[in-house]
Amino acid sequence: MKHQISIEKRRTFGIIAHPDAGKTTLTEKLLLFGGAIQTAGAVKNNKIKKTATSDFMEIEKQRGISVATSVMAFEYSGKQINILDTPGHKDFAEDTYRTLTAVDSVILVIDCANGVESQTEKLMEVCRMRNTPVIIFVNKMDREGKDAFSLLDELEEKLNIKVRPLSWPIGIGDRFKGVYNLYDKNLNLFQANKTKIAKEIVQIDNISDNLLNEIIGEAPANELREELEIIEGVYDNFNQSDYLSGSVAPVFFGSAVNNFGVKELLDTFIRISPSPIGRETDKRFIEPNEEKFSGFVFKIHANLDPKHRDRIAFLRIVSGKFEKNTFYYHVRLDKKFKFPNPTSFMAQDKSVIDEAFPGDVVGLYDTGNFKIGDTLSEGEKMMFKGIPSFSPEIFQELENLDPMKSKQLDKGISQLTDEGVAQMFVQQPGNRKIVGTVGQLQFEVIAHRLTHEYGASCRFVPKNYFKACWITTENDSSLQKFLNAKTGNIAKDKDNNFVFLAETPFLLQMAERDYPDLTFHYSSEFKLEQMN
Ligand code: G4P
Repeated sequence: MKHQISIEKRRTFGIIAHPDAGKTTLTEKLLLFGGAIQTAGAVKNNKIKKTATSDFMEIEKQRGISVATSVMAFEYSGKQINILDTPGHKDFAEDTYRTLTAVDSVILVIDCANGVESQTEKLMEVCRMRNTPVIIFVNKMDREGKDAFSLLDELEEKLNIKVRPLSWPIGIGDRFKGVYNLYDKNLNLFQANKTKIAKEIVQIDNISDNLLNEIIGEAPANELREELEIIEGVYDNFNQSDYLSGSVAPVFFGSAVNNFGVKELLDTFIRISPSPIGRETDKRFIEPNEEKFSGFVFKIHANLDPKHRDRIAFLRIVSGKFEKNTFYYHVRLDKKFKFPNPTSFMAQDKSVIDEAFPGDVVGLYDTGNFKIGDTLSEGEKMMFKGIPSFSPEIFQELENLDPMKSKQLDKGISQLTDEGVAQMFVQQPGNRKIVGTVGQLQFEVIAHRLTHEYGASCRFVPKNYFKACWITTENDSSLQKFLNAKTGNIAKDKDNNFVFLAETPFLLQMAERDYPDLTFHYSSEFKLEQMN
């Protein structure tokens, strides 16, 4: 119970959204509230621009900037808020999934005109796999969009979660007058303002108060009363424990760019969201208030400068106190390491820290000792679970164009896949390397980095695979039979697990039918998948 105060003070979460829904804008407004930045526009540069697809300089620049803004920490209302940035670009979805393993809750941003979009559904699936508490922010209410009730229905239907509005919009688009805060029962009037924080909040304790008519007009006031009545009738009262267990998502409405509805969101967030929670390991559950330090690496970032091939490993602290210059046990390597310069990330500054607590993320300079998923402890042999690899969607074979440089190529691709830029599956005979990614952009990044950072010479040849499926079974002879029959489609992942590279959904179905003793998984973390 030693660090209880530090633990209760912290809120570590991620903001997720389909690109363009307003994630960057909302992040920036939250930082403004926390005083972490002074002007709007500071976070904006962090975005991977849509035009970046083939512009390497741009990719490099983005990688550089995103180190600084990968974790944004600030204080608000006595709490230390850690926002973990997730790339919005769909080609980096895998990076986002992994970052979600390091948060305790999530804010999902939806564009009120577009509703639930493809990327929203996928991200939400990942949250549901681990029962992460989710708050939904319906953004861009200053524009014409879908009716609020239909949006709530759409959220429930497509995201497969119950919702409960905690704020309610008064009108939409040109008629948008503000939001009524159902949690605090007060009214926030809309006043478009992109750089400052709207201060005009009117307290209305009784919704039938005539003051409401005076402020927003009689017709909108009556409409609001009717709608609130419907909400109370249709939706159960908000129950914090349902939110914390991931079964109900509270919904807020607003306009991030106008700083509207953001304070309601933030104030409620710090009251209801979870403080750092523990994590499961292969041995036992680790509670945050345990005395001994433990943590795991969920992201690795390469240095931009090819002459300094050091990297930053992002460590989420799960329990105890992390201290600089102290030896910690690297479980996978069975070796002790100490870190003289651990960094924290306060908005855009990186600074060396002396200590950090559960919920915090520290950056550790690394010369190649870390892989994503690695655990550090004070000696206990255990590995944190829950950092799955998902089946990639695009597969290409990596071909070496210069036999004299094969060492460089091997080293390069091995380090890049340790960083999680892509997954690699090795096929025998011939040690053929099949690289799998979520988007085309990664292949460009990998080819560029292999050439420029490792001096390798290579090309990618597209492969026509549909999915990589991890295979599990209790029946070894059935597995052996399958491996013999499908030699051309079998490979091993980095941890030596067998995967089946299925060319089509039909061939996968056939395999499932012909080998009923084998189970084929779309994610390397079978336990989580089974729980889902
Ligand atoms: P993302 O990180 O989720 O990809 O989205 P981002 O915040 O960059 O927002 C995408 C676009 O939507 C931006 O416009 C942003 O200004 C706009 N936006 C965000 N919140 C609101 C809102 O509440 N109302 C309205 N009307 N627009 C909003 P852009 O034209 O792409 O960029 P910019 O030139 O405005 O910076």
